[in-house]
Amino acid sequence: MTDLSALADDISSCTRCPLHRGRIHAVPGDGQSGATIMLVGEAPGREEDRQGRPFVGKAGRILDEALHAAALKREELYITNVVKCRPPGNRNPRQEEVEACLPYLESQINLIRPRILCTLGRVATEEIFPRYGLQPVPLARIHGTAYEVRDTPGVIVPVYHPAATIYNPALAEVFMADIKKIARLSEDLR
Ligand code: URA
Repeated sequence: MTDLSALADDISSCTRCPLHRGRIHAVPGDGQSGATIMLVGEAPGREEDRQGRPFVGKAGRILDEALHAAALKREELYITNVVKCRPPGNRNPRQEEVEACLPYLESQINLIRPRILCTLGRVATEEIFPRYGLQPVPLARIHGTAYEVRDTPGVIVPVYHPAATIYNPALAEVFMADIKKIARLSEDLR
């Protein structure tokens, strides 16, 4: 089996879908190969495309604050996205782009073998849930719930996307509470 850095090289030179044409950098993901917690967002934005790293723009700052409040160290997690290249104008990724890119996420999950997989936002939740036989009913109902699945990862927890708290500040506390819940879950696994 390939390792994470070889996989990152494959992602960086990927031409499986048209998104590669507009990218500055592909954004494979960041973090520990043996991470207990894996966070999966939607797709890189402008700043992520510039830097080649996930969640380094405005949404990333919100995520960092929540991780800090939950005493989680970003470098101990693994953070990635469903789609590894920025969709133009930050539109939602198209289904064919998701399908082309998902094998990379599957390989990352198999290599990292996280115990907790956290889907950040509706797009990641809707793409990942059905693959584990779960129903991605509205996030408003299921956010913060730990769904047990067979094998890896073990537990899937959907949460709001950090950017959702920009448009709806009332979600900031909810998002923070859900990230703290994930921190407690990972403590329980130690
Ligand atoms: N939003 C995402 O979903 N992913 C990123 O990496 C940045 C913003």
